[in-house]
Amino acid sequence: MAIASSSSIREGDVVIVYERHDRMKAVTVRKGGELQNRFGVFRHDDWIGKPFGSRVVDKKKGSGFVYLLAPSPVLWTLVLSHRTQILYLADISFVICGLELRPGCVVLESGTGSGSLTTSLARAVAPSGHVHTFDFHEPRASLARKDFENNRINNVTVGVRDIQGQGFPEELTDKANAVFLDLPQPWLAVESVLICLRPNASCCSFSPCIEQVQRTCEAFRKYNFVDIRTFEVLLRSYEIRKEFLTDISVNNGEVEDASLPPQKRRRSDSSEKPRPDGGDAPNPSIGAVMARPYAETKGHTGFLTFARCQV
Ligand SMILES: C[S@@+](CC[C@H](N)C(=O)[O-])C[C@H]1O[C@@H](n2cnc3c(N)ncnc32)[C@H](O)[C@@H]1O
Repeated sequence: MAIASSSSIREGDVVIVYERHDRMKAVTVRKGGELQNRFGVFRHDDWIGKPFGSRVVDKKKGSGFVYLLAPSPVLWTLVLSHRTQILYLADISFVICGLELRPGCVVLESGTGSGSLTTSLARAVAPSGHVHTFDFHEPRASLARKDFENNRINNVTVGVRDIQGQGFPEELTDKANAVFLDLPQPWLAVESVLICLRPNASCCSFSPCIEQVQRTCEAFRKYNFVDIRTFEVLLRSYEIRKEFLTDISVNNGEVEDASLPPQKRRRSDSSEKPRPDGGDAPNPSIGAVMARPYAETKGHTGFLTFARCQV
């Protein structure tokens, strides 16, 4: 897979224009093209030939800047167009580890959806492995194919097929090192999964509802899969920042250093501390590094059920 493999930006490349961790955009580089955002106007011609990761400055004002990052699977998941619900990084990482993916593996997937997981599967098995992904929705399959092409991912084949109704194609019998299902009724595909998996290889099925998990587990049991286990992956992200706090213990010009543990705190004259604004009035605020979970951390996405095919 060629995603992010070239170190300098060429015409036709997809670049992730990074403003901050929660503000990024995928842009295809075109000669004569321009990007306008709140930081200014940026000419694509200035990007061509620059290494991925470069910081480029707005030519008019000279103060605004953005970073031009390579479209790695991690970033792609954050910027892709959502044509369906998608898998996010916590689940994706767990799937790749749980399915024991490595370069050279052959992976089957259905449905393709927006290609979020597919992009990471392709990276995990590259350069010699291959992902065969299927979706029964033709326009969605076409758009995913286009995204893979634009991102120069060349080890994915997208097929249009009803996997719940028809199963995986016969030519994939006994070829798969792993299978991933993100389907509304995954239990209908389990027999076909068994036919395609190599001995001792694993399947993972993602479902948002526990009733779907129960039916899938029954199907895995019926077809003699072993080591059937279900997980819910919850992620908690933290923001770490320096903040100036007003210490409510200010008393007669003395403050406690709130950045120290209570037993080490020593009262000091607040006027000795530099003020954040550079003024010389008594300073009632203290700089401290704060770490706290993001308020908008995502909760439940779905359940991941793993099952191994018996030798
Ligand atoms: C939630 S999306 C998959 C999202 C994908 N995992 C991602 O990370 O972008 C589910 C997809 O399954 C497809 N699908 C539903 N039933 C199907 C079937 N019987 N055969 C093949 N694909 C099917 C839908 O068209 C949809 O695109």
